This record gives sequence, C-alpha cells and structure tokens, in this order.
Amino acid sequence: MSASNSTTDINPYRADFPILQRPGVYLNHAAMGPWARPTALAVQQFAQENLEQGAAHYVRWMQIENQVHHQLAQLLNAEHVDDIALCKNTSEGLSLIANGIEWNAGDEVVIPDIEFPSNRLPWLAQAPHGVSVHEVSLSGNETSEPSPEQALMAACNNNTRLMSVSAVQYGNGLRLDIATLGAFCRANNILFCVDAIQQLGALPLDVQSSACDFVVADAHKWLLGPEGIAVFYSTAKARAQLRDQQQGWRMYEQPFNFDRSDWSTPKSARRFEPGSPNMVGIFALQASLKLLLDIGVETIAQRILSHSQKLSQGIAQMSQLSLLSATEIERSSGIVSFTTGHAESDAELQKALKTQGILGAHRGGGIRWSPHFYQSSLDMEKALLELARCLAPSDPGTQ
Ligand SMILES: Cc1ncc(COP(=O)(O)O)c(C=O)c1O
Repeated sequence: MSASNSTTDINPYRADFPILQRPGVYLNHAAMGPWARPTALAVQQFAQENLEQGAAHYVRWMQIENQVHHQLAQLLNAEHVDDIALCKNTSEGLSLIANGIEWNAGDEVVIPDIEFPSNRLPWLAQAPHGVSVHEVSLSGNETSEPSPEQALMAACNNNTRLMSVSAVQYGNGLRLDIATLGAFCRANNILFCVDAIQQLGALPLDVQSSACDFVVADAHKWLLGPEGIAVFYSTAKARAQLRDQQQGWRMYEQPFNFDRSDWSTPKSARRFEPGSPNMVGIFALQASLKLLLDIGVETIAQRILSHSQKLSQGIAQMSQLSLLSATEIERSSGIVSFTTGHAESDAELQKALKTQGILGAHRGGGIRWSPHFYQSSLDMEKALLELARCLAPSDPGTQ
C-alpha cells in the first residue's frame, strides 16, 4: 500500500458502516469485526447469482479468488502471490505448520506464555515427536529490561527449530517488534511463524522486512470479513519443509486438467488448498480487502492508534481502573484492556457497559476494548463517558 494513502479522508467511508447507526459504540473488533456495506452487498449479489444462474460464471468466480490472493500479497507485501494460500481459519493454518514440519526429537519451539490457545495447542501436540515448547514469560517487561523480544530471543538455543508469536496479543494488546524477532530467527536458522489475526487489517505487516516464514490470520476481526476464511502465507523455502497433509484436485495451477500425468506436489502455496474453496467467503473478503486497501493501511493504523491512545488516556484517569495494555505507541495496538482489579467487578462492569451499548469483551484478565478506523474520536469519548457513568457510585436518593 502506498504511503501517499496516508492522509485518506475516511469520512466518505463512514456511510459504508451502518453499524455506526447502532446506539452505543462497537468496541469488539478484536473478537469479530462488523461487515461494511460493500462486503454485505458482495455476498447478497453472489447469493442472487447462485439463485438465478448457478455456477454459470465460475470462471469469473475463479478470477475473484485470484484477486483475493493478489490483494493479500499486497497487504502483506509478499514477494510473490504464490506465497499466499487461503485456509479455513488461523487455528487450521497454525496446525498445518505444526503438523507439517518433520520434527526431530529434541527440537524446541519458543512461544510467549500469553498466547491464544490456537498458537499454543498445535505446538504442544508435537510432544509425541519429542518436541518441547518453551513458553516465555512476557508479563511485566513491556517497558523494562529484558524487553519481550529480548526474553523470547534469550529462550532460543541450538535446539530451537521454530518461534511462533502473535504480532499483537489477544488479551493485553501487546505489540511485538516482529522485525527484530524475524531478523534474529533468520540469522539463527529458526523458523519464524506469526499469528497476525490481531494485527492484519489494523496495523501494517510487511512479511519481507520482518523476515516471516509463516503468517496466518483469519478474516473476521480487523479485516472486517467473514469467519471461515484465512490467509496462510509461507516463503517457498519454509513451505518446502512442510510435509503434505492434504491432497486434492484444487491445489494445481490448472485445477480442471484432470488428465495431467504429473501430479507431483506444486511448489506454490496453493498446495494448501486441496478442494473446492469457500467461494462465499472469497466474495466477501474480496470486498473487505478492497475497502481496506483503498483507504490504505497507514491511514487505518493511524486512526486505530489514535483511538487506542484516547481510550488509554481516559481510562488512566479513572481511579477505579488499572490499564492492562501498554501505552507506549510502539507497543500499543487496536486493543486497550483494563481492570477494576476484581474479576467479579469486571464482569459486572462489562455487563453494565453492554446494557449501554458499549460492546467490548471480557478477556485477558479484564475488559478488552478494540476500536476500528471508521469510528470517530467522538465515539471514543462516548464510550469513556459511559464507562465513567457505569463506575460512578449510584445516588442513594435514586435507589
Ligand atoms: C491471537 C489469536 N489467534 C487465533 C485466534 C483464533 O482464530 P481462528 O478462529 O481463526 O482460528 C484468535 C481469536 O480470538 C486470536 O485472538
């Protein structure tokens, strides 16, 4: 995405988000993003076409599918579109990697200790192959030495085969310096895998400058797409290390050439797409990606970070609350989390906020708010005002 997009005026795009008409503020993009109008329209039109014409225009559908691969390559700055595959979800992508590597007994995997289960369970499941998982504590060192990156790098040794991290942590929103970790892994011949579901669509991710070997992210959060479709990026060198786990007709360049004599595994990442694709998801994702790419990831990131900063500053002033997410700009993300210090009070507060239409989530030991670019600074003020109201002791006179 070009830097010239960095000042895109987003006001015209706000009309594409009818969710803005909903009372309250939707602050739950880290769980599930709403669809924008073009995405809903793409699915409606696809349904209508199926209704009236079936798959008469399947060639066009394949062009849209191809476009999505190209859009994702652009979004990630992949070297080649052949490095992009579509899979079902982040969990599936990470499992394809974990179950695809030919492990040697004694191999080690390094992950943070605050990962979402999807970036933990596939690695732990390799124990029968003699693989051990080193879960590195990141708590408390966002601002002090060792930094989270230093802690992760220090946990690596000659047996470390792979490091897998979420670019942004789902609970506290901690943003890791992916480029530093990627450079370290490349220099030490360690595979570097990134769960980007909490980053992609919110903040830029450049797979080349960050030396990522694998990146996986589902569409249903910051990409404002549907569930059940995810990007699975791999470098040619990294995917050559994965054993085939699935085979099928759709993984070939010309899938309808059923009479081919050469059925050897293709070199492109399409080898991870064995059968009929999630075409509804593809139509939806194409529209979502078009919108995000038109606006530009720099504009989106700037707005999201400005919203997060505003929320963090407001919350920091509320004496009943403690921030769980980092406030330094390079550590922050689309996720702001906070706590009253008591799980029960958090649950009550979350319930009260929901009643007022302020939708967040109860995650990572507190309440998690996650705004997106199409929302305004006023929306953030509205959420803070409701939060302050929910925290205010009720007037005994009104009880
Ligand atoms: C960091 C992270 N990874 C993975 C997932 C799960 O993704 P999926 O449902 O696409 O497997 C989530 C969902 O919240 C997440 O936050």
